[in-house]
Amino acid sequence: MREPRQEKLIPALGFRWLTPAYDLVVRLTTREAAFKAALVAQLELPPAARVLDLGCGTATLTLMLKRRFPQASVAGVDGDAEILRIAREKVRRSGLDVDLREAMAQALPYADASFDCVASSLFFHHLERAAKLAVLAETRRVLKPGGALHVADWGGATGPLSRGAFVMVQLLDGFPNTADNVAGRLPGLMEQAGYASARETQRLLTVFGNISLYGAQKPHERLEAARA
Ligand SMILES: C[S@@+](CC[C@H](N)C(=O)[O-])C[C@H]1O[C@@H](n2cnc3c(N)ncnc32)[C@H](O)[C@@H]1O
Repeated sequence: MREPRQEKLIPALGFRWLTPAYDLVVRLTTREAAFKAALVAQLELPPAARVLDLGCGTATLTLMLKRRFPQASVAGVDGDAEILRIAREKVRRSGLDVDLREAMAQALPYADASFDCVASSLFFHHLERAAKLAVLAETRRVLKPGGALHVADWGGATGPLSRGAFVMVQLLDGFPNTADNVAGRLPGLMEQAGYASARETQRLLTVFGNISLYGAQKPHERLEAARA
């Protein structure tokens, strides 16, 4: 029998009945093609790398990663069985080989140091601060030393226009879980969770506010040992 789930899961677009419309809404409102392409372009992978798409949803980014890095082993994980059904159908139609799993990001079903890179898009704003930190610790666990974290998500507001526009996202997805995003605190939380060189790398204005791209690195073993 499955253990009851401890962590809260906010589904894509906040409400379960909106799940079938997710791809259309995101395509029309978030400049999805541009920001996901920019995120993929940020990755530098060794040959035969292992990459994880965290909170993969309908697997749009997962498939973009596999197309850009055909030699890489690409995995996607999400806590919502319903959105994974859409993802599995898209993967089946693509004919590409990616491994999708249902799991909460707070307890990833992967061994320590098993990925060269964790990428994630529009995911961290679903988590309140304690959960953000728990997930960042978990991604650090599954990354190899020196491995990279690449994130695209709602970022800091740059003025009243982008702040006002973001209220629509907050009405759908929630206020406590999005507060650190719109205050631009994701890099600080990454550093707090033990990442190095956490930084915003790009920002795109959308109708719902700013989407920021971030990069950070799991320190190499020597630095990890010095930190302990
Ligand atoms: C807005 S969607 C983003 C999906 C996809 N990454 C994209 O860019 O289109 C957020 C996803 O995070 C998932 N999610 C939310 N909290 C989660 C958690 N704690 N663990 C795993 N998945 C979670 C949701 O099920 C949803 O599919």
